[in-house]
Amino acid sequence: MLMTSQDIDPPAVLDFIVRQQQSPETACAYLGTEPSEIRGDLEELDQHWLETVRVSVAADGGIVGAAVIEWDEELDRSWVHGPWMEQDAWLTAGPSLLAAVTAQAPVVGHEMYADVSNHGMAQLARRCGWQAGEANFEYRRATPVPSGAPGTRPATSADEPAIRALHEREFPGTYASASELLDPDSRYSTLVFAPEGTVLGYVASQLQSESAVYVDFLAVRPDARRSGVGERLINGAHESSGRDKITLTVDENRPAARAFYASTGFESMATTRPYRLRRSRR
Ligand SMILES: CC(C)(COP(=O)(O)OP(=O)(O)OC[C@H]1O[C@@H](n2cnc3c(N)ncnc32)[C@H](O)[C@@H]1OP(=O)(O)O)[C@@H](O)C(=O)NCCC(=O)NCCS
Repeated sequence: MLMTSQDIDPPAVLDFIVRQQQSPETACAYLGTEPSEIRGDLEELDQHWLETVRVSVAADGGIVGAAVIEWDEELDRSWVHGPWMEQDAWLTAGPSLLAAVTAQAPVVGHEMYADVSNHGMAQLARRCGWQAGEANFEYRRATPVPSGAPGTRPATSADEPAIRALHEREFPGTYASASELLDPDSRYSTLVFAPEGTVLGYVASQLQSESAVYVDFLAVRPDARRSGVGERLINGAHESSGRDKITLTVDENRPAARAFYASTGFESMATTRPYRLRRSRR
């Protein structure tokens, strides 16, 4: 049976989500594992999670599945948080739960995201006609920032044309535009390396927790690569964040970036995969 937000017991649903987040095999990769972090991330979704949550319950009333959704009408995309399912419920309760949660988002593109070891989500995606995307390699560096002045500075609106050109070339159709990266009210901090006033590269990051900063975008102009610009930018983002850890994900189709992170002290932590559906507009 499927329940909507009015009928659920929020602490019981939160407990269920936290339990499923403890193992990559059942977790949604948008969220962490710490209960406080999960609660904080859910609270900050663009649509409140208690309004979008849908829950599947068994005949005895026990929760067997839950999912939450967030969407951005301007980007015409949604992000499904979950589904979190008991192992034997993926193909029984999963399809109707996924349909119910995505039906709320007035957008064409939908995405869900999990570790490659979450076979339940992979099966559900196949069953429901969602396309498996490129795998993402998750990297983390928890060692102190290498010393030496990175020479980076915060980006200003005057840097926007140069950042936009590089951003749209390297990350076409991505979830945040260049103007959003430069908006002082957005969650992003953006740095550039611009010796003699020419922007050679930029990095955009956001604080992820008390101890970590997450890098959303990093790109260096093709004619300035292999001269240490990328390393200055990543070190600048790490240092200016004041956080001990710096994390990010890289697509499997970016071997140069993976070589770059391996050589700048990052360790590979997990491999995750997005699943996407594009629906025609009703
Ligand atoms: C990944 C990227 C940011 C690296 O920037 P960069 O300025 O060329 O990197 P650096 O010069 O600081 O490289 C530092 C080290 O990383 C390694 N490295 C960087 N690019 C590499 C490549 N193409 N192949 C193998 N190793 C590489 C090398 O060990 C290099 O040191 P070396 O040149 O002394 O051998 C750049 O290639 C880029 O903008 N790529 C396109 C966008 C992208 O993939 N961004 C990352 C996804 S979030």
